[in-house]
Amino acid sequence: MANVFVTQHIGTAGVQKLRQAGHEVTYRDKTEPMTAAELQTAVRPADGLVCLLTDRLDTAVLDAAPNLKMIANVAVGYDNIDVAAATERGILVSNTPDVLTEATADHAFALLLALARRLPEADAFMRAGKYEKFEMFPPLLGLEVTGKTLGIVGLGRIGAAVARRGALGFGMQVLYTANGAKTAVEQALGAQKVSLPELLRQSDFVSINVPLTPETRHLFTLDTLRQMKPTACLINTARGPIVKEADLLQALREGIIWGAALDVFEAEPQMTPGLADYHERLVVAPHLGSATGETRQKMVETAVTNLLAGLSNQTPPNALNAAALGRE
Ligand code: DGY
Repeated sequence: MANVFVTQHIGTAGVQKLRQAGHEVTYRDKTEPMTAAELQTAVRPADGLVCLLTDRLDTAVLDAAPNLKMIANVAVGYDNIDVAAATERGILVSNTPDVLTEATADHAFALLLALARRLPEADAFMRAGKYEKFEMFPPLLGLEVTGKTLGIVGLGRIGAAVARRGALGFGMQVLYTANGAKTAVEQALGAQKVSLPELLRQSDFVSINVPLTPETRHLFTLDTLRQMKPTACLINTARGPIVKEADLLQALREGIIWGAALDVFEAEPQMTPGLADYHERLVVAPHLGSATGETRQKMVETAVTNLLAGLSNQTPPNALNAAALGRE
């Protein structure tokens, strides 16, 4: 039997599964993250942890948990966890890939279409009673999507799923950046690997699908945005700090790019001042990429399965540092 701490609300099914496996579970059934000090106190007796992307697991937290063997993050992104420090302390870390790929790609495409066809602006226009006459060239003219060029920055699982939607659903030409060539995607979709400057220069829609790392933090600044076409759109469903929000706001105001759709923010849940009041060709959502009932449930199940494996000395299916810890 192990002591498991669940840091935030994940629903009862996952907690029950942990309890049925015989573990002593402390379930903090709240929807706000703890402060750093609260987290440090709460993890003290834990052997296993189930956490969300809003829990920052840094060295101070890891040092406060001398018994910790395993951290199961309920997210595919794990920039909230110092994985290197966990590895040094012999702690396994897992994430929840695959189960959220399609939902997140759907959301990226929903944002892309909503932006291109100006749906939030159209909705506000109707509700304000401004639709007085049909016009051939109305104020809310949008952008054509079919047949355009889609640039995927980071062709991993989610990036490839966005690429599939673009190529197969909308006849788009797909350009991408990635570590290494993705031959299968190239063959299936006619996608082409290019440098980032080339992708920015050619794409009509740029979708950010890289993880947040020291290399990708502020990958998109005014300088990067200036390399895009003035008719191009930026879609970010990855992590907020990849885009320097103040620069994006300036780029929108000055017409450096046509529009942007953001599901993630630099200092979530806040938005850079000015961004919330900017309505033209800017679509925003509160980090909903994977937020369908089915997918969120699968993410919890995946995290619980990972933790149960780790606590019974098996290698969790989605362990991030198993090899570094000398496990198969
Ligand atoms: C993740 O899993 O990393 C998403 O941002 C939330 O589902």
